[in-house]
Order: sequence, then structure tokens, then C-alpha cells
Amino acid sequence: MSRKIHIFDTTLRDGEQVPGAKLNKRQKIEIAQQLAKLNVDVIEAGFPCSSPEDMQAVKAVAEQTQGPVIAGLARAVQQDIDIAWQALQFAERPRIHVFLGSSDIHLQKKLRRDREAGLQMCVDSVRYAKKLCEDVEYSTEDASRTDFEYLCRVIEAAVKAGATVINVPDTVGYAIPEEYGETIRKLRESVPALDKVILSVHCHNDLGLAVANSLAAIRNGADQVECTINGVGERAGNASLEEIVMVLKTRHAAFEAHTDLNTEEIYRTSRMVSRLMNIPVQPNKAVIGSNAFAHSSGVHQDGILKDRSTYEIMRPEDVGIRKHELVLTARSGRAALRHKLGELGYELDKDKFERVYNRFINVADRKKEITSEDLTSIVEIELTKVPETFSFQSLQIMSGNTMVPLASVTLIKDGRDLTDAAAGNGPVDAVFNCIERIVEQQGKLRDYDLKAVTMGRDALGEAMVRVEIEGVLYSGIGTSPDVIEASARAYLNAFNRFFANSH
Ligand code: KIV
Ligand code: ZN
Repeated sequence: MSRKIHIFDTTLRDGEQVPGAKLNKRQKIEIAQQLAKLNVDVIEAGFPCSSPEDMQAVKAVAEQTQGPVIAGLARAVQQDIDIAWQALQFAERPRIHVFLGSSDIHLQKKLRRDREAGLQMCVDSVRYAKKLCEDVEYSTEDASRTDFEYLCRVIEAAVKAGATVINVPDTVGYAIPEEYGETIRKLRESVPALDKVILSVHCHNDLGLAVANSLAAIRNGADQVECTINGVGERAGNASLEEIVMVLKTRHAAFEAHTDLNTEEIYRTSRMVSRLMNIPVQPNKAVIGSNAFAHSSGVHQDGILKDRSTYEIMRPEDVGIRKHELVLTARSGRAALRHKLGELGYELDKDKFERVYNRFINVADRKKEITSEDLTSIVEIELTKVPETFSFQSLQIMSGNTMVPLASVTLIKDGRDLTDAAAGNGPVDAVFNCIERIVEQQGKLRDYDLKAVTMGRDALGEAMVRVEIEGVLYSGIGTSPDVIEASARAYLNAFNRFFANSH
């Protein structure tokens, strides 16, 4: 019989710990609502005591997201648990997630406590959380490097104190599949109380084994996996949600386990997270990379044309990839655009629709055909824009291999056109210098990524930047058929985030 595996998504908490990927309240709500459409079982919305902003963001997600359980992280101390509860209490289905190191390394070197004191903190914190919230998850941080007997004692005590979920994390990505699977199997044997609760795993990817370890745990009795969209997270990241879910779907017979995910929402969720966190997805990323379903060798293409099953084990449509599908042009009116947006799953109010329509016309005037991928990119960028202190109006470039590139840019602020000109090491540098002059603020470009949304010479370009402004990293994204304009829009987007933050 097929077992249900609970999907606990921690993109908004562990995923957000990536430097420069900080999300604001509005962005967290947007991703949480998309995760609800994807039908994950649990959304870990953040770590409320980490900052007042995160507490407010978790609260907003808890109040505005229906369906999944909403979890918030807390250290095993009363103050953290109180703050987590303040953020979570209005959720339809709240969960407090308490964690404490259980390995000797963590206990001695980080917490400066012995095992008995750690055990007591576990019991006290779970009991305390349980008074506030029925659903309490307890994580034995660094479980994969914890003495097994002690791990069993902690887990038993946590269940007795009222935990409803026990998580056994491989915090530092040290585990290997056979060993980690064996730990889960032995835990089930040694701690019968685990049958009364959900047994969860949480794997990091330091050795590239996070997904393999999660799957080994599932085979050996784990009920829940904690993972992130695109595998984003601390250091080398967390186990990738889309990979685990598609393994269970594609190789169902091998695991006799399933998830309740609406897999057709995977691609859109992946794009949204990549954009809002400004973390590009590598082209060869399994399941959702741009090459994941591309067949380039002649032999493969021939096979695919004869029968897709020759070289494809999953259908792109199953993860929501609709390749180069129909097409709108500048002459397609509002009705056609609204219809296509509906097919892609976007229901926009009048204001948002008008913004998307204006940008669509602007792009379609320069790029003859707009595909589903183009439209998705346009919509998501328009919908995730920060309030614009400065908006982009136009640019001109003079460039060549025998001259110093020059750029002139016009931005709009409070209805007024502001124009300036600057030179640079290349045309993009010249445009960035111009923008800095107009907004009267310096930035240091820390990351720059440019990719084509679709194939072909007239492809829509999508630029992502990370800019350090006054010591803080801000991300920006921009799209246009002209890659220099896409870069300018992305750079300006990062500055607008800075201004939105500082006012
Ligand atoms: O990696 C880890 O151990 C964690 C815990 C807080 C669950 O993120
Ligand atoms: Zn983690």
C-alpha cells in the first residue's frame, strides 16, 4: 500500500538564510500562497524571533494562507517560543517548531551544556510550546552526528512532553544514504513512541546527498521530508523539493509512497522563488533546469520525435513546463491576453492586469511573438515589483570595440523625467554608472546573471543582479528583448528595493 509522505517546505525559513536572498513580507506571502497552490503539507514561514520584520512576515503568512500547516521556528527557550506563537496564533493550522542541538559537538561547543541539561531543555521547551499550540515539532539539530542512545532518549522525552512531530536533521550534510536510512530504521525500532507522531527528516546538501539521504529515510520509515524549492538554503542548500517529489511520482513502485502535491505547479513555484530570492537556477538542474527537457543530440531528437518515452522519463507538462506554446503578438487584444493568463493560472485584478498589459505591449512591439515562458516572466516581474521610487523610461548607448562606451538614461521620479549620461568599461557598466548618478546613490555589483527566457535570436532576456548598497545586499530583476535594457531594469529594481527599505 502506498504511504503518504508529508512535504514540509522550508524555503521561507532555511531557504531564506542564503545571503542576499532575504524576502520582505509581501514576497513571503506571495510565495506562501503559491506553495499552498502546490499543495505542500507544511509551510515553514520563518524564524519569528530573528527580527521584528520576520515576526511580522510570519504573522502575515499565517493570517493570509489557507490550507497548509504554517510553522515558525524557535530555539528551545521561552522567549523564542512566545514570539513564534505571537506570529502563528491566527493561522488556520499553526505549528511551533522548536530545535536544539543534540550532538556533543553542538552541546559542548555551541550551547556549553552537558547531555542532561540538553535533555531538560528539550522537555521544558516542548511542554511550554504545547501549552500554547497543539501541534509542536521538535528538531534534534545535528542528529546525524549525535550518539544514537542519547538521540533515542531525547526523542522519547520530546514525544512524552507532547511533541507531535519529531525531526531528525542532517544539519551539516554529513550523512550518507545507507547510514542515514539505517538510523531512521533503528529509531523506529528503538523508540516505539515514534508510532504516535510524525517522523520527519531534514537534509542539507554539503556533499550533494540531501535528496538521496531524504529518499533513504523515506524507504526506512520517515513520514515527512523537509525541503526547499530549487534546493535553496544554507551553504550548499537543502534537499530539493521538486526532485524528491518527482522521484516519488516517477518511481512510485520502488518507494510505495506518494505525496499530495499538485506537481503541475512546480515550475511556476520554482521560477517565482528564483526571481524573488534572486538565485538563478542552473540550466542542468534536475526537473526544472532549462535543459532538463532539452534534447540536443541528433539521435535523441530522432527518438523523441518517434516516441517521447525513448528519452523522457517524465513529461514536462507534469511539472508545469509548457514549451514554446502559443503565442500572442502585439495585435492580440486584452481579451486574448486575459484568456492566456487564465490558462497559465493567473487571475489578476484590474490594476495588475493593466500593468501586465502595458508591459506586454511594450515587449511585444519589439519581439514579434510572445510565448508562455515570455508571458510568465513578464507577469511575475510585474507582480513582484517593489514600489518604484524611480521608474525606467529609456536609454541610449554608444558603444563599439574602438571607443569608450557611453550611455544616456532617463528615469522618472514623481512624474519628472531625470536624464544623465556616463561612460563605463562596457555598455552595461556605462548604464549602471548613469543610474547611480541619477538616483544619487552608489552601489557595488556583487552578482550579475543574464539568461534568455526562450530560444531564438529575438529571445526575451532576463537579468538578475545583486547590488551592495550601504553594506546591504539588494537583489534586482529585469526583463526585455534588449539585454542592456534588461540589465538596466534589474539594476534599478535593486535600487528601488533599497529606497523602499530605507523610507
Ligand atoms: O538544519 C537544521 O538542523 C535546521 C533545524 C533548525 C531544523 O534547519
Ligand atoms: Zn536546516
